[in-house]
This record gives sequence, structure tokens and C-alpha cells, in this order.
Amino acid sequence: MPLARSLSVTSLSGLEEWDEEFDLEDAVLFEIAWEVANKVGGIYTVIQTKARLTAEEWGENYFLVGPYVESNVRTQVELIEPTNPVLKRTIDQMNASGCKIYFGRWLIEGSPYVVLIDVGFTAWSLDRWKRELWEHCGIGVPWFDREANDAVLFGFLTAWLLGEYAAQSEESPHIVAHFHEWLAGLGLVLCRQRQLPIATIFTTHATLLGRYLCAGSVDFYNNLAQFNVDKEAGDRQIYHRYCLERAAAHCTHVFTTVSQITAIEAEHLLKRKPDIITPNGLNVKKFSAMHEFQNLHAQSKSRIQEFVRGHFYGHLDFNLDKCLFLFIAGRYEFSNKGADVFLEALARLNYLLRVNHSDVTVIAFFIMPARTNNFNVETLKGQAVRKQLWDTAQTVKERFGKKLYESLLVGQLPDVSKMLDKEDFTIMKRAIFATQRQSQPPVCTHNMLEDSSDPILSCVRRIGLFNSSSDRVKIIFHPEFLSSTSPLLPMDYEEFVRGCHLGVFPSYYEPWGYTPAECTVMGIPSISTNLSGFGCFMEEHIADPSAYGIYILDRRYKGVDESCNQLTSFLFQFCKQSRRQRIIQRNRTERLSDLLDWRYLGRFYIAARHMALAKAFPDTFIYEPEETASTAGFRYPRPASVPPSPALSRHSSPHHSEAEDNEEDERYDEELEAEKDRVNIRQPYTMPEIASLSA
Ligand code: UDP
Ligand code: G6P
Ligand code: GLC
Repeated sequence: MPLARSLSVTSLSGLEEWDEEFDLEDAVLFEIAWEVANKVGGIYTVIQTKARLTAEEWGENYFLVGPYVESNVRTQVELIEPTNPVLKRTIDQMNASGCKIYFGRWLIEGSPYVVLIDVGFTAWSLDRWKRELWEHCGIGVPWFDREANDAVLFGFLTAWLLGEYAAQSEESPHIVAHFHEWLAGLGLVLCRQRQLPIATIFTTHATLLGRYLCAGSVDFYNNLAQFNVDKEAGDRQIYHRYCLERAAAHCTHVFTTVSQITAIEAEHLLKRKPDIITPNGLNVKKFSAMHEFQNLHAQSKSRIQEFVRGHFYGHLDFNLDKCLFLFIAGRYEFSNKGADVFLEALARLNYLLRVNHSDVTVIAFFIMPARTNNFNVETLKGQAVRKQLWDTAQTVKERFGKKLYESLLVGQLPDVSKMLDKEDFTIMKRAIFATQRQSQPPVCTHNMLEDSSDPILSCVRRIGLFNSSSDRVKIIFHPEFLSSTSPLLPMDYEEFVRGCHLGVFPSYYEPWGYTPAECTVMGIPSISTNLSGFGCFMEEHIADPSAYGIYILDRRYKGVDESCNQLTSFLFQFCKQSRRQRIIQRNRTERLSDLLDWRYLGRFYIAARHMALAKAFPDTFIYEPEETASTAGFRYPRPASVPPSPALSRHSSPHHSEAEDNEEDERYDEELEAEKDRVNIRQPYTMPEIASLSA
């Protein structure tokens, strides 16, 4: 009998790295998700950012399994011959039996191996497999649900792959299969039903029913224990999906969710308490110089400003230097993501800024993909006009320069009044004429297919924020994810976030919420809620989150109107900050990155795998329960320096002279340097340091 092996970590009171005493040499890890090399939402981010760490741990024995989508493969994957002989036999065998399975390297950090399954190619088996699903598991999937049909095909094919792998192996390997979300869950159910020798893990990133119930007008969190789950799922025509999800949650050796709040939800709606919580991390890149991320902010901000110049051409009656860029981004779930609350708060903020005669202008971006047929003409025209003005300025500048040069060549100082001639003025007048515009700058950048019923646009119409001159809050709805190849706003999402001042994510339903976490590691403050996994996690681990630029909106104990008021107050306070305060706050926000790094949060995934191995192969593995000791009790201290409260701003008086301003700038530079020193003394925070601070 093989020796029982146990695992240990040095200490779990803080967030030290693991001290591994564990040999995974004969173990193989498959991680299965519909979002492997296939971007839909946050699950893609989980898999993509975690890959490097998991690949480092498992080396050649780590395989991600996902769907084959040609356009994704073309841009993200290098197809190669399978490196592992057992996997090669497995794939060859399946391909010889009418499947189409590809093998390659995903071109992301860590370059993990991917097994990609073309589910459409095996669609001829759908009816047979559905019958089998009905006969063995009692789950009937209707023909019209395309996503569920894909889930059936993907499930049967992944179970086939894993079963074949086990059968093709000469010595029985220790296989761990980690399935993410209901779309991949059926593979797990079938592995168990077929009694394959595989340790299974199921992670739910949200419950189906939770997402659906919250999207309706249901008081979700106060009624969690009361829902008649079968009826609610049936009423929403997702009973079959719900069954697939619940079956996976119950069949798995180890069940995990991404946050405590989703753990409670799962307990009530899926009727199983998770064995362990696996919070989502990020692959944090540290810059060698502290201020580098601040420079990146300034660079990206100037690119957003360029876009704004074009978008608001003819209406640039506000000071771009006093303009704050706010944004919300993610899948278009209007109320779940809190876009409703954000819009309402923006309307109230507009009022406050107006009555207080603020010189700040807020531009709020909504980046949420909806059905469109491309950019609208007015928006494209804006960028064309801006480009034309730029070109005109360059032409006149060149002509001016030439005349200046000629004059200097003959030893004369130029007659400034003659430097611009009639032609120059004609060119410039023509360019200015092109900036005349009858309409307001558009709210939406695209032609929406469902314009009249679109929730964001309907709400904008109701609250009347139409980008008029008198509005201090302007709105730009970009109903498509950002891309550096866009002709309109050629920036990828990360660059865009860096250039903004504040991410606003007032979600009602958010099991984790990567968007505010991504802001944090880029040093951009954000607003999340105490109903989001991320918000609760930060509240638990930071003594004074708002001092670090992590604002957590109360949506748990407050009604919608009160939450809107609280959000408005956060936004108004933010608008009152001076540049100096914003810079200091960004430094603080960025300091929290370590807390969200996979290097520390990856431990929960490791523990889940160990737990699963010990449950599936009890003769070989022993699981030490203290492994799962959480980070409870671990807290970031309050920042030592002055809080960046607007009350302390020297800019509180609206009138000051240039000299005062310069003086202020100098003082601010000194303070910033001092802040940098403070930061350097304590930076980078190592996790053991933080643990000792909290002790
Ligand atoms: N995102 C993106 N491009 C965009 C806007 C958002 O790639 O233009 C990504 C963002 O980086 C994040 C994900 O979409 O990783 C959304 O994940 P989150 O967990 O916030 O929400 P989900 O969509 O999974 O509910
Ligand atoms: C960064 C840059 C500074 C710039 C500032 C603008 O800190 O390093 O040079 O002045 O950003 O900050 P703001 O919050 O006004 O965009
Ligand atoms: C889901 C959740 C989101 C979470 C993501 C990754 O899509 O809606 O809150 O961040 O999964 O776990």
C-alpha cells in the first residue's frame, strides 16, 4: 500500500506562502470550464490569471479543458501535438471515434496546455446523450435551450475524455478534475455516475437561481431561506439547468464558491454548504518604481481626454483638466451590476455639483456589451472632426514655422502680425465651421438594436442626463467591450481603467466582482458593495477601506433610495478631492495589491485539491483540516498618514491666485515625496509583515 502523505503549511495566521511537503509527480490536474480560452466574463479572468501559478505547481501535468471556438484559437492558442503520451492516445482514440479534439498551448502567462473540444462536431450525438442523461440522472433538457445543449455535449465529451485518460493509463494515476460553473458541471456528474477513479472539485461562481431571482424585483437576501427552489427555477424555465448545477454541487468530492456571500446563497439554493471558499485572485505585476503606475495613469488619461475632445466637439465648454472619469464595466446585467443605482446617483450628483457651482465635470462611462449594429455616425464624426482640427493646427503650425525660419534666415525678428496670412485664416475658419453642431454630444456610441427598450438609455431619458452644457455630469454609453483595435476609442480595457479616476460597481448580485479588484491592483480607487464577494472580502481584511480608496456601499441594510444617497455622497466627496489627494489615494489603493495576488489566494485552490485527493484516494492522501484555516483575523492597518479627506484640501476655497497655486503645488510636491518615503519604508508589504501588524 502506498505511504499516506500529508501536507502542511508553516502558518496560516497570515498569508505566507505555502511550505509544500507534497509530491504531485504521479498526479494529473484537469481544469474544465466553458471560458477556457473563451472570454465571456469573470470566469475567464479566474482561469487566465491563475494559469501561471497552477502551471508552476503542476508543470507538464496540468491541462485546461474548454470549448473549441475557431476565432479564439486563431488569436490565443498555438496548436501542437499532445506532449503527454497517455493524453495523445486518449485524443487519438476519441478523434478516431467521431470527435474533434485539439491540443495546444494557450498563449498567456504560464503557457498552459489546453485541450479544446469542438462540441458542434459531435452534435449528432446530442439526442442519444440527452436520452442517457434522462435515463441515468432523470434530467430532461429541452431542445430549444442552446446553451444547455452545449452543456450536454461538453459534459459528455469531457467525461469521455477523463474516462478514456484513466483507461489509457498503464498505472492508475491520481487524477484531479476541477470543474467550473454549471456549464461544465455535467462532466463531473457523469464521472461520478460512471464511478471513474477521479477526485472531483466543483466551483460555482454564481448560482443560476440567484442570478435570475436578483435580476427580477425580488428581495433576495431577506428571503434566501424561504425560496421554493424547484418552483422558482421552473417559473423561470431554467429547471433543467438548475438540476445540472445542483447535481454537480452534490456529486462532487469538494464543493467551493468564490466568496462567503455566495456560500450562504449556495447553501440555501443548491442545498449544499461549500467545503471551502476559493476567493479570486489576480496575477499582480509589481513595477520596480513606485510612481510608474501613476505615470501610466497620466498617459492613459490623456488618451481618454483625446477621445472626449472628439466626442464633445462643439461643446467643449468645460475644463478637461478638471474632468473626472468614472466608469462601470461588465456583462450587461442592468440591476444586478447596479447600473440603475449608478445612474440615479449620477443624476443626484449632477444636481449637487450644479448648486455648488463646482468647476469639476464628471464623465461617466458605461462599458457594457449590448446588441448593436456598430458605431453611430455622430460618434465617428466626432473623432474625425477632432482629427481634422489636429491636422489643421499642424498645417498652420508648419506654415507659421516656415515663415519664422525665413525671417530668421535674413536676420530679422518676425513681424508677428504677418505671420498668419489670409489662407491660414481660411483653413482655420473652415476647420472651425466643421465643429458646428446642432445636436448634443451623443449618450451612446453605437446604434442600438433595442434602443427604445434598452434599460440604460431608458433610464437616461427618465433622469434627463443628455450631455447638455449645463450638466456637470455627462454620460457615455459604450455598449461593447473595449479593444485596442477600435477606431473610436483604441484602448484595451486595462489601459482604459488606468486612465480613469474611479470605478463604480454598485452591484446587487455579485459573487465576487473582478472589476473593482482589477482597479485595486492598478491603483485606481473603486466603489463596490457589501453584497459583492470582493466588497465583503476587503471589508473583512482592511481596517479602514475608504482610506485606501476602497469604498463599500451598503446595499445590504439600506433601501435603494438610501443606497443611492450614500453613493451620491461617495461621488460628491470624491469630486471634492484635490489632485494631490487623488494621487495619495491611488498610492494607497495600489498598496493593497498583495492581498489580491494569486501567490497568496492560490492556497485555497491548493487546499481544495488536497481535500479532493484525500476524499477520492483515502489510502494514499491524508488531508489536514488546518490547511483550510482561513485568513480570518487578518487585517490591513489604517494608513499612518493623513486621510485624503476633502476637508483637508487646501483647494477648499474656489478663489486663489496663481502664486497661491504655485505655492500649493510646491507644498504638494513635498508632501507627495514625504508620502513616497512613507510608502517606501512600508512597501512592499509582505504578507508576513501584514500578519504581524494584525497580530
Ligand atoms: N472586461 C473586459 N473588457 C471590458 C470590460 C470588462 O475584459 O471592456 C472584463 C473585466 O476585466 C473582468 C470581467 O470582464 O475581468 C468581468 O468580470 P466580473 O467578475 O466583474 O463580472 P462577471 O461578468 O463575471 O459577472
Ligand atoms: C499621476 C501623474 C501626475 C499627474 C496625476 C494626475 O500621478 O504622475 O503627473 O499630475 O497623475 O492625477 P489626476 O487624478 O488629476 O488624473
Ligand atoms: C461570475 C460572477 C462574478 C465573479 C466571476 C468570477 O461571473 O458574476 O461576480 O467575479 O464569476 O468568479
